[in-house]
Amino acid sequence: MASLRSSLAAIEVMMMIMAAAMAGICSAGDPFVYFDWNVAYMKASPLGVEKQVISINGQFPGPLVNVTTNWNVEVNVLNSLDEPLLITWDGVQQRKNSWQDGVMGTNCPIPVGWNWTYRFQVKDQIGSFFYFPSIGLQRAAGGFGGFTANNRPIISVPFDTPHGDITLFIGDWFNKNHTDLRKELDQGKALGVPDGVLMNGKGPYRYNNTIVPADIVHETINVQPGKTYRFRVHNVGMFTCLNFRVQSHNLLLTETEGSYTVQQNYTNLDIFVGQSYSFLITMDQNASSDYYIVASARFVNGSKWGRVVGVAILHYSNSKGKASGPLPDPPNDVYDKTYSMNQARSIRWNVSASGARPNPQGSFRYGSINVTQVYVLKNQPPMLIDGKRRATLNGISYSSPETPLRLADQYDKKGVYNLNFPTKYDAGSPKIATSIINGTYRGFMEIVFQNNDTRVQSYHLDGYAFFVVYPGAWTAVMVSLDNVGIWNLRSEDLDSWYLGQETYISVVNPESTNKTEQPVPDNALYCGLLKDMQKQQSPHGQGLNSSSTLASRSGMILALMIVAALLMFL
Ligand SMILES: *[C@@H]1O[C@H](CO)[C@@H](O)[C@H](O)[C@H]1NC(C)=O
Ligand SMILES: *[C@@H]1O[C@H](CO)[C@@H](O)[C@H](O)[C@H]1NC(C)=O
Ligand SMILES: *[C@@H]1O[C@H](CO)[C@@H](O)[C@H](O)[C@H]1NC(C)=O
Ligand SMILES: *[C@@H]1O[C@H](CO)[C@@H](O)[C@H](O)[C@H]1NC(C)=O
Ligand SMILES: *[C@@H]1O[C@H](CO)[C@@H](O)[C@H](O)[C@H]1NC(C)=O
Ligand SMILES: *[C@@H]1O[C@H](CO)[C@@H](O)[C@H](O)[C@H]1NC(C)=O
Ligand SMILES: *[C@@H]1O[C@H](CO)[C@@H](O)[C@H](O)[C@H]1NC(C)=O
Ligand SMILES: *[C@@H]1O[C@H](CO)[C@@H](O)[C@H](O)[C@H]1NC(C)=O
Ligand SMILES: *[C@@H]1O[C@H](CO)[C@@H](O)[C@H](O)[C@H]1NC(C)=O
Ligand SMILES: *[C@@H]1O[C@H](CO)[C@@H](O)[C@H](O)[C@H]1NC(C)=O
Ligand SMILES: *[C@@H]1O[C@H](CO)[C@@H](O)[C@H](O)[C@H]1NC(C)=O
Ligand SMILES: *[C@@H]1O[C@H](CO)[C@@H](O)[C@H](O)[C@H]1NC(C)=O
Repeated sequence: MASLRSSLAAIEVMMMIMAAAMAGICSAGDPFVYFDWNVAYMKASPLGVEKQVISINGQFPGPLVNVTTNWNVEVNVLNSLDEPLLITWDGVQQRKNSWQDGVMGTNCPIPVGWNWTYRFQVKDQIGSFFYFPSIGLQRAAGGFGGFTANNRPIISVPFDTPHGDITLFIGDWFNKNHTDLRKELDQGKALGVPDGVLMNGKGPYRYNNTIVPADIVHETINVQPGKTYRFRVHNVGMFTCLNFRVQSHNLLLTETEGSYTVQQNYTNLDIFVGQSYSFLITMDQNASSDYYIVASARFVNGSKWGRVVGVAILHYSNSKGKASGPLPDPPNDVYDKTYSMNQARSIRWNVSASGARPNPQGSFRYGSINVTQVYVLKNQPPMLIDGKRRATLNGISYSSPETPLRLADQYDKKGVYNLNFPTKYDAGSPKIATSIINGTYRGFMEIVFQNNDTRVQSYHLDGYAFFVVYPGAWTAVMVSLDNVGIWNLRSEDLDSWYLGQETYISVVNPESTNKTEQPVPDNALYCGLLKDMQKQQSPHGQGLNSSSTLASRSGMILALMIVAALLMFL
């Protein structure tokens, strides 16, 4: 194979200081907002083949959670599926509150027919996120929806208020339901090529009669000429990176994952699974026809992938006709990821804009940070371990114990997990284990993701942020471990995640204090070794307790620095 040429391409250093130490702000005045959600199956056939999708209150995608910085959110989730359920809030950081994170390491799944109320504060956050079901590949069936954190009126936003605000979910889609997809993965099969791409739960506009069958319902976005709209675009798919573009229109990128970016126009942008972007799009065309909105599979070839394209319609109120003709071209570089990498690297935070607070988002110099721990996490293509097809990080394929890790800590149950995650890949035999990372409280951890697979990977660290790693390359990330709790670090590709490509980072404050982490919620569900603590469900009218005041009492500084450095294997 090719020789390694270590060309350290570029180092991008960014840091976000989310919260300056502003002691004494009490959240008592911060509004509470309640949602009652019934999560249930619903039949839908977005690509012409019926399957059970997961709806929330009868909606697929689920309802938008539209809140403002520092609001207290309560979501009462009733599980009307036929299997356990957990909802996670993805980029919405649970400050000092991994209890509400909604992943297997922190929460017992909500049993069938039960309800559970999430309670958290959207502390010091702005931006575009989405929620989704976190277990059992359920996101492949839906259950996701938007989570928008608006700025408080006193905080300036680095652009004029748009005329409208549009949330757009894009994602690859399989006609097989999630239980059948699970079965395939359990049987050691790869999932193959998706059947298509949905936009807001709908199939493609019939831009080509051969490719798109008749009677497919597509999404239409209605706009007025001359106005500017904010599009919040989320890739909620299984594993396909999608190239997003709007025919004849520029995408002015303004925000990603809760941080304002330097504003730049793109004609198209690659959006990886799990990523969220905000674009301002000005309706500056002459409306001689409608326009295509396209999300097409990236870095793939072969005729089967020709159908993995989502197409919605941008309809001006004065439009003179339907969209027709070929779709706008994708980047013409299937075999070369340089364009995409350069595009990713062109995205910079606007370090003079205010985030959720009046102070600027800030920047930092790599090199002046005292790194306390280094983890080099190498992923490999799926492999056989004990006869099972599994996905790994450093040769470890994570196995979820029945008892959530955080609850095991709280109630002193030993032996549920080990804090022995290897700091680097060790050529020994791969194994399935419940092995997690021991983070040093208030330390600075450098995590280097090495992608040894052929697919682009995206990773997410709950309570912190999101990272993309190109094949044969690496991405280095600096994380300030100030957020006490146990945080899920995972592949955003659903199949890799399901097959064990995840771990957790434990951040424990050695000092005994109640100030750096919320107490265990009084409605916590118990399972596994703690199942005897669980009472049968009966409605108990809890008043609003002060569960959210703690988060704001002491000043917290979240310092997150992303060093995206790409080492290419040429
Ligand atoms: C998925 O489809 C299979 C048949 O292919 C069916 O047995 C199963 O019940 C379905 N699961 C759900 C959740 O609808
Ligand atoms: C979300 O809330 C904001 C502030 O209350 C409001 O201006 C906006 O119209 C809402 N957006 C949507 C899509 O409902
Ligand atoms: C279940 O919902 C009821 C109200 O419908 C609520 O009083 C109760 O607290 C909820 N249970 C949990 C565990 O959140
Ligand atoms: C960055 O934010 C500042 C403050 O809101 C704004 O004035 C400036 O135009 C922004 N710069 C870019 C390049 O987006
Ligand atoms: C539709 O797609 C088919 C298959 O890719 C292609 O052969 C044909 O030229 C397309 N038709 C039009 C009108 O673009
Ligand atoms: C982006 O493109 C629009 C036209 O669509 C233009 O008006 C605007 O000035 C451009 N902005 C930047 C920052 O390039
Ligand atoms: C509208 O724009 C298109 C594409 O830019 C151009 O071909 C067409 O002539 C324009 N039509 C009118 C009526 O200006
Ligand atoms: C595209 O197809 C060729 C020939 O089948 C194959 O060698 C190559 O690896 C494929 N590229 C990608 C990105 O899948
Ligand atoms: C790193 O450590 C040195 C020596 O202890 C100290 O002078 C410096 O301020 C530290 N830097 C940061 C960013 O904490
Ligand atoms: C975890 O790290 C802390 C220091 O941050 C150390 O005191 C503790 O012994 C470590 N635990 C294990 C099991 O290695
Ligand atoms: C994966 O690692 C092997 C062994 O170090 C190396 O030969 C191969 O080129 C790597 N592949 C990628 C895509 O990085
Ligand atoms: C923390 O709170 C619990 C109950 O609210 C209390 O029993 C305990 O003493 C507190 N611990 C400290 C160190 O304040």
